[in-house]
Amino acid sequence: MHAALPVLVPALFAATLALDNGLMRTPPMGWLAWERYRCDIDCDNDPKNCISENLFRDMADRLSEDGWRELGYVYVNIDDCWSSKQRDKQGRLQADPKRFPRGIKDLARYMHDRGLKLGIYGDMGTYTCGGYPGTPLDKIQIDAQTFAEWEVDMFKYDGCYSNATEQEQGYPLMSKALNATGRPIGYSCSWPAYQGGLPPKVNYTQLGEICNLWRNYDDIQDSWNSVLNIIDWFFGNQDALASAAGPGRWNDPDMLVIGDFGLSMEQSRTQMALWAIMAAPLFMSNDLRTISSGARNILQNKMIISINQDPMGIQGRRILKEKSGIDVYWRPLSKNASALVFFSRRDDMPYRYRTSLSKLNYTTGSYKIFDVFTNKAAALKDSTEFVVPVNPSGVVMWYVSAPAAPSRRHYKRARFQGSADDGENGDPLVVL
Ligand SMILES: *[C@@H]1O[C@H](CO)[C@@H](O)[C@H](O)[C@H]1NC(C)=O
Ligand SMILES: *[C@@H]1O[C@H](CO)[C@@H](O)[C@H](O)[C@H]1NC(C)=O
Ligand SMILES: *[C@@H]1O[C@H](CO)[C@@H](O)[C@H](O)[C@H]1NC(C)=O
Ligand SMILES: *[C@@H]1O[C@H](CO)[C@@H](O)[C@H](O)[C@H]1NC(C)=O
Ligand SMILES: *[C@@H]1O[C@H](CO)[C@@H](O)[C@H](O)[C@H]1NC(C)=O
Repeated sequence: MHAALPVLVPALFAATLALDNGLMRTPPMGWLAWERYRCDIDCDNDPKNCISENLFRDMADRLSEDGWRELGYVYVNIDDCWSSKQRDKQGRLQADPKRFPRGIKDLARYMHDRGLKLGIYGDMGTYTCGGYPGTPLDKIQIDAQTFAEWEVDMFKYDGCYSNATEQEQGYPLMSKALNATGRPIGYSCSWPAYQGGLPPKVNYTQLGEICNLWRNYDDIQDSWNSVLNIIDWFFGNQDALASAAGPGRWNDPDMLVIGDFGLSMEQSRTQMALWAIMAAPLFMSNDLRTISSGARNILQNKMIISINQDPMGIQGRRILKEKSGIDVYWRPLSKNASALVFFSRRDDMPYRYRTSLSKLNYTTGSYKIFDVFTNKAAALKDSTEFVVPVNPSGVVMWYVSAPAAPSRRHYKRARFQGSADDGENGDPLVVL
């Protein structure tokens, strides 16, 4: 059943259109200020962390010098609290001159000079969530033009202080206004998050036509509780959400908080793995100047990034929720490959989860599996029982290659790296 899906699904997607700006054919990646830096405007007392051009320049330096850019992390995104409390004499938004003395256009050039892109933030209401000037209906055109003149590459349109009627008009209008500037600007819509995130209130077909990505649900916070809540909401509603995603249009479960304070290493791996399964945008919100090597290794894991960035852009699903507290997630990938994640909700000790690929509905054949965190590989017949030890609040994640025609040589090679005979049915028991 699963092996057939990758063949069928692209035909379904052909019927639905994505926003036609040519952008974000794979989930966008980069860095976004909000979760870690919020509305810190106190540059006198907190010059390193306040929302200022220095912060964004620092992050751009790290992205371009520490190997992030080459992996795809190219957006540097400003969030709320960047502007002056007043529009200028021509009615245009302006950056706070104290914190952005060189202005946004200069900051965009700083990004472009380093092969990076700049994102900016606005709000559909009279005010932004942080109380700065909003972009209500009558300001949409002038603000879109301003962002284009500044050579901004992405725009997040929040929804505080606006009502459903205004949102219905404003989100499509901004899409048109951005297009009319002639500058390709990635468009992130917070609209569904303000309307409960689910049909019938949210029309995902329409969102896919006007936005590149959209926040469906609550803001992420720097805690495991928040990450788990988001995981449960997105996979609990996967039937409504997964088909909305595809090249150029993505569900956005919000930022990666890996490298901050709230997640253990196990939980950090879980966030990375499940964001890849979800084909989620990968926007880190952390301090790249001081990030630990452990967090960096997770965020820079090439195999997980390539799973996240799979060109088919099919959002994965939770396929099992076991009474034991183990969840299994699956995402079809190009070249008939797939990704599997085994996640433990347990809080006692590593749990030895036992299954086989055929129990997970893989078709008959011999598969090559690659553990993305341990870099171990093995060949696995669909019928072979295996055991994965999954740590509390942690994951095991596999890249599973297309089945090869069964051959003896394959089975001989299956008996390596911890493989053992379980003696029950004669099949080798593979433990990775
Ligand atoms: C604007 O929309 C048209 C038609 O959908 C598309 O061909 C064009 O590339 C878009 N331009 C920009 C800058 O997004
Ligand atoms: C939404 O806000 C506008 C003012 O911008 C107001 O005219 C309209 O009545 C409001 N609609 C609802 C449903 O509250
Ligand atoms: C959702 O949006 C699409 C595209 O704009 C439209 O064709 C469809 O009628 C809408 N569906 C509903 C239920 O409003
Ligand atoms: C994928 O599998 C289908 C049948 O299951 C096969 O026809 C096709 O050639 C395979 N594609 C690749 C790239 O292996
Ligand atoms: C496997 O397929 C059967 C039949 O379609 C389905 O009932 C079952 O839930 C599937 N199991 C998994 C793990 O996807």
